[in-house]
Amino acid sequence: MLLKNLNLASMSGSYGLMQKAAILIENGHIKWVGPEVDAPSGPAVNCHGTLVTPGLIDCHTHLVYGGNRANEFEQRLNGADYAAIAKAGGGIMSTVRATRAASEENLLKSGLKRLDTLLAEGVTTVEIKSGYGLDVATEAKMLRVARKLEKQRAATIKNTFLGAHTFPAEYKENHQEYLNIVCNQSLKSAFEEGLVDAVDAFCEGIAFSVEETEAVFKAAKKLNLPVKLHAEQLSNLGGAKLAAKYGALSVDHIEYLDLDGVEAIQKSGTVAVLLPGAYYYLREKQAPPVAALRSRKVAIAIATDLNPGSSPVHSLLSTMNMACVLFGLTPEEALLGVTKNAAKALGLADRGEIKVGHRADLAFWDVERPGDLAYPLGFNPISAIIQNGQFSKAFA
Ligand code: NIG
Ligand code: FE
Repeated sequence: MLLKNLNLASMSGSYGLMQKAAILIENGHIKWVGPEVDAPSGPAVNCHGTLVTPGLIDCHTHLVYGGNRANEFEQRLNGADYAAIAKAGGGIMSTVRATRAASEENLLKSGLKRLDTLLAEGVTTVEIKSGYGLDVATEAKMLRVARKLEKQRAATIKNTFLGAHTFPAEYKENHQEYLNIVCNQSLKSAFEEGLVDAVDAFCEGIAFSVEETEAVFKAAKKLNLPVKLHAEQLSNLGGAKLAAKYGALSVDHIEYLDLDGVEAIQKSGTVAVLLPGAYYYLREKQAPPVAALRSRKVAIAIATDLNPGSSPVHSLLSTMNMACVLFGLTPEEALLGVTKNAAKALGLADRGEIKVGHRADLAFWDVERPGDLAYPLGFNPISAIIQNGQFSKAFA
C-alpha cells in the first residue's frame, strides 16, 4: 500500500517534519518513506495532506479490573487522603476484592470498553498490568484477559506482572510469606503460561520497600524478564536507583525523584515515565523533576496510568495536554513521550517512529501541526488509523 499527500511527523529525534511525503507499506511494515516526488510508482491512497504520526503508545495502564472507586474520589474530596484510605483497607485492596470476585468474561467486557476508548484516539500499542489479584489465580486471570483483549483487536498489548502492587490483607503481617508467593508461585506460573512480558512493583511506604522490591527484581531476572517500577510517587525511598541497578526499562510516576535518582536512571538508560493523571487526581503538589531529566537527556515518556483509583483517565491525548500544562513539557516532548520514548519504555525497537523497518502503525490527524495534538482537552481530531499495515479506521 502506497500512501501519498501526507504531512509527515516521523518523530525520529524531534518532530521530523516533511510536507508532501509518501509512505510505502509492505507486510505490515514501512518499506519506504520520503518525499512524494521520489516515491515508487503505482496506485496510491490520497491522504489529503493530513498529518500522520506513529500510532500512539500508552506504556502504563491498569485497564483490566473489577468494580470502581468513585466512592474514594468522593471521600478524598471530603478530606480523606489516598494513603490513609489504602491503610484502612480501601484503595488498591478495594479493587482487589472486586477483581477477585469478577468473572473473566466481565473483566473482558469492561476491559474492552476501556481499551476501545484509548484506541479511538490513535493508540496502537497498550501496556496492561496485573496487580489487582494479589493471588496466584487472579493475577493469572487478569493477564489472561489482557491476552484475550489483544486477540479481539488489532492493537499490540504488552503484559506486565504486578503481583507486587501491595501486600494483600491476608499477608499484611507476613510480608516474607507474600514475597515467596509472588516470586515463587504467581510470577512463575503466569510466566509458564506465557502471560508475562515484564515485571513491575510498587515501591512505596504503603506497598513494597526497596529490599522487598529487590527480591521481586531478582525473581524477574531469573526468568530473563525486563523490570520497571512504580517509584517515588508519594515519597522518595530510592526505588529508582534500585531500578537503575537492574537495568529497568522505566521508572514511573517519579514526582519525588531526586538528583541522585535522575543521574542513576540516566546512566542505566531507563525511561522516565510521567503519569500526570495520577498527579492530577491525587491533587499532588510536587511535580516530577522535568528540568533535571531534560538536562541529563533522560528519555521522557507519558502514559494514562488508567486505573480505578489514582487515575481514571481514559485519554492519552488529554494526558499529553496535562503533561504540558501541569509539568511544563513542550508539545513536542509530549508527542515524543507517547511515541518514540513510550516504545523505549516497553523495550519495543520496532515502533514509535515512522521509519523503514518499523511496524506500519500510523495515526492520521485533522490538525495542521503535530504540536496541535497536545492543545485541546476533550477533543479527538483523529482522521484515520492504520494498524499493522491495515486501516482499522478509514478516511471518512
Ligand atoms: O499507578 N501507584 C500505584 N498503583 C497505581 C494505582 C493503584 C490504585 O490506586 O488502584 C498507580 O497509581
Ligand atoms: Fe500505575
